[in-house]
Amino acid sequence: MKRTLGVCYYPEHWPEAQWAEDAARMAALGLTWVRIGEFAWKRMEPVEGEYDFDWLDRAIETLGAAGLTVVLGTPTATPPAWVVAKHPDMLPVDAEGRVRGYGSRRHYCFSHAGYLSECCRIVTRMAERYGANPDVGAWQTDNEYSCHDTTLSYSDCATRAFRDWLRTQFPAPESYRGNDGDIDALNAAWGNVFWSMDYDDFDQIGLPNLTVTEVNPAHAHAFRRFSSDQVVAFNRAQVDIIRAHSEAPIAHNYMGRITDFDHFKVGADLDIASWDSYPLGFLEDRSGGSDAHKRAYAQQGDPDFQAFHHDLYRAVGKDGRWWVMEQQPGPVNWAPYNPAPLPGMVRLWTWEAFAHGAEAVCYFRWRQAPFAQEQMHAGLLRPDSAEAEAFGEAALVMAELADAPDVAPAQAPVAIIFDYGADAMWAVQPHGAGLSYFGLVFDWYRACRKLGLSVDILPPTARDFDGYALVLVPGMMHMPDDLKGALDAAEGQVVLGPRSGARDTHFSIPTPLPPAWPGSDLTVARVQSMRPDMPVPVDGGGQVVGYLEQVEGGSEVLLRTEDGAPVALRCSDHVSYVAGWLDDAAHMRVLRSVAPDLEVHEMPDSVRRRETGGEVFWFNYGAQDAEVEGKVLPVAGVLRRPR
Ligand code: GAL
Repeated sequence: MKRTLGVCYYPEHWPEAQWAEDAARMAALGLTWVRIGEFAWKRMEPVEGEYDFDWLDRAIETLGAAGLTVVLGTPTATPPAWVVAKHPDMLPVDAEGRVRGYGSRRHYCFSHAGYLSECCRIVTRMAERYGANPDVGAWQTDNEYSCHDTTLSYSDCATRAFRDWLRTQFPAPESYRGNDGDIDALNAAWGNVFWSMDYDDFDQIGLPNLTVTEVNPAHAHAFRRFSSDQVVAFNRAQVDIIRAHSEAPIAHNYMGRITDFDHFKVGADLDIASWDSYPLGFLEDRSGGSDAHKRAYAQQGDPDFQAFHHDLYRAVGKDGRWWVMEQQPGPVNWAPYNPAPLPGMVRLWTWEAFAHGAEAVCYFRWRQAPFAQEQMHAGLLRPDSAEAEAFGEAALVMAELADAPDVAPAQAPVAIIFDYGADAMWAVQPHGAGLSYFGLVFDWYRACRKLGLSVDILPPTARDFDGYALVLVPGMMHMPDDLKGALDAAEGQVVLGPRSGARDTHFSIPTPLPPAWPGSDLTVARVQSMRPDMPVPVDGGGQVVGYLEQVEGGSEVLLRTEDGAPVALRCSDHVSYVAGWLDDAAHMRVLRSVAPDLEVHEMPDSVRRRETGGEVFWFNYGAQDAEVEGKVLPVAGVLRRPR
């Protein structure tokens, strides 16, 4: 598979007379892909049942005639006003019970059957019309599921759908008459005897918001699982329609650090995973880190955040197929601060995606729009059509791609399991302010990267760990027995914890107490969360920050706090358990001690390294030149070598 570039384009934003020139300039730049259509429902169906696809026919034809291939988006993230007027109760409701109104985008509730049928109708029309169009080379469903916090909706239609979903989770036994679900089983599984919360009927169950105090975590957790399933079903409905008319691959554009639905389950219905990468915006509002860290990387982005998502979405894509569907090209409009990237960073971000196996990187967007919400968002072109800074960097990547090898995947030495189910459990019960599953996994990932290790992210359904020297499974609060068995049989080293196996499927603490590792003498006897400004020093270097378990048993201790409490222990010859949330230094010590033979490459602070099948890459995220392999790697520099 060749490495290719593309761009996001909105023909409906520009006079038709401009399209051919735009297409010619895109082709001259060397772009392959142009994503269009994903917000244009009102142009396609101005009035209910009256379709106007002629303009879209001409746009696709113009782009195709220039040699470009279209990624066609379904427009269901932006239902027009007439759809909302027809279905006023389709609007999502926030946790405070407020209706989220019309006037921007993503104003729909995944559980609204009427809205789903409107979506199926417009998608059917598009699939019938463009399914066999040779200029349409791929599809995108909707746009950024969950963006603007839209997976969880507390609407009436969500309430009804949640009850029906619960009935399927607790089916009635044959002998049970008069009810289609087993409410006693739900009461028992959730522990509703506590505070007299037992229900008599599924129709008494509400959504887990607006209660006087904390809801039962089992209830909140069930609602998150339900909400995730609603996204999967919504996406699947579109996929089924498109597949009936088209053989082109189907993608969705996921986001950074959005974990409200199970991307592996959505991805199982799609061909390509793609994501929207905005390194500077994410640094300010998503990737975490101190103010000093944010200042150091303000114009480059966090050095690990993009890579983490590249690796995650490679796992979400079928057969590892993944793209960057939107790449930040300059200042954006939506973060707390919106600086310009340092010169060279757009090129670096693009190459980093290719180093992690991307087939395509598409810039968002072609031309900066002078109107509406994103008028402060850069494009490859300025509003006056002159080239913006990123245009030249895209052209440079294009020239460099001429003699670059194709996408060549290779198994990494380290695997990390990422489980959206565990993320939901941590979200329901973080146990301490600021503690999250994503944050824990990301900290482990960063420690690996600081040791120059390439990482594969695996889904929680992975059972084959052959070829991995190290498998990390931090924070997986529910661990199925067959996963434990597969990890126990792994040939490499396995690192678990904290909170591994800490809950059963319905959010109760299992006995024997966690981690209940087969054959081990290790019990988590007590857990505590701590203020982030009260770290506990680890003997020999590093710290425990925010979360520490007290463990009992006779396991060999690998690391202790200065006070002597065990922090890392061996459950068996190849399985270790980490009983706290560690800082980078302590994480790196654990990695070195459990896998002393792993070939690590310590590098300057801001430099990251990544190996593919045929190449080794180094990236300088720092604001100063760095030295790598005896050479100067300038600011925003990329070093690429055959392996
Ligand atoms: C993405 C979105 C695009 C555009 C972009 C701006 O989240 O998919 O439509 O809004 O952000 O950065």
